[in-house]
Amino acid sequence: MNDKPIVLLTHPLPAEWVGSDLDGYQVILAEKGQKGIQGKLIEYLDRAAGILCLLDDPIPAGIIENAPQLKVISNLAVGVDNIDLAACNRLGIAVGHTPGVLTDSTADLTVALLLAVGRQLVAASEDARQGKWSSWDPTGWLGVDLKGATAGILGLGKIGSAVAKRLAAFECQIIFTNRSPKPEQARSLGAKQVSLETLLRESDFLCLHTSLTAETKGMIDREAFKLMKPTAILINAARGGVVNTADLLHALQSGQIRAAGLDVTDPEPLPPDHPLYQLKNCLITPHIGSATHGTRKAIARIALRNLALGIQGEPLEHCVNPQVYNHPG
Ligand code: DGY
Repeated sequence: MNDKPIVLLTHPLPAEWVGSDLDGYQVILAEKGQKGIQGKLIEYLDRAAGILCLLDDPIPAGIIENAPQLKVISNLAVGVDNIDLAACNRLGIAVGHTPGVLTDSTADLTVALLLAVGRQLVAASEDARQGKWSSWDPTGWLGVDLKGATAGILGLGKIGSAVAKRLAAFECQIIFTNRSPKPEQARSLGAKQVSLETLLRESDFLCLHTSLTAETKGMIDREAFKLMKPTAILINAARGGVVNTADLLHALQSGQIRAAGLDVTDPEPLPPDHPLYQLKNCLITPHIGSATHGTRKAIARIALRNLALGIQGEPLEHCVNPQVYNHPG
């Protein structure tokens, strides 16, 4: 009989990232195509000590409550909106995440999306490929200037700050909202903290960098789009659920805003027949904010360390609910 602690792994990881880190466990790997804890993983759930999962693996209360041996859920992401945190807190289960290492790659992707949408890179490239580049056209493929534009950052956390820093270098005026006051960051970025209404009204580029919570779900909705400039560009590299998808579709179709660049969608993945894909003023990438070789490996390394520490009953390197260490159970 195998007496190694059981770890449920929802997706295979490259051997080069994992090294020998999973050698001490009985690893149960999900069947291909399954998300969350399903199929074979359910059979081992009542004996599992740890879960190593991805940001699109739902881990609801019903799963957590049926895992009496579970000590840790280690998410390969900074966002943990896929996990029922209230259930983990109630049952004393540590939840690990991976902040910091993906800040720069996600900020880079945000700016890449803004430049691609703002300068019509995809349409221009497609037209060139299709032989529609017959001469230098003084009015062809016109885009927007970054210099002098107002960039609004919704959520000046690590990634929001990194985006603000990059856009300040393009000589954008930076305004931002944040739950708490950020006077020092405002000073160092030459930025101004404003209300949500001012952010919506004044931003030429609105970049979303808030986590998905009950408070932020659907925050960018019909009412928000009504306040935005008809020339505004929306960039979302945070979580799809922060934007109401039906309202976004309407805003893009009706010219309430100019364009959108989305690295995240709701639902995710967005089905291939979704009307957003039909719009020329909407660029969609498949949640690749952190998708660089270095970042993804760094994320995996942190998640593996969080898993090991959690199974040993020690504080995780990056824990979203450190209060569980005082849990009576
Ligand atoms: C995260 O880690 O939450 C990011 O969305 C991954 O790109």
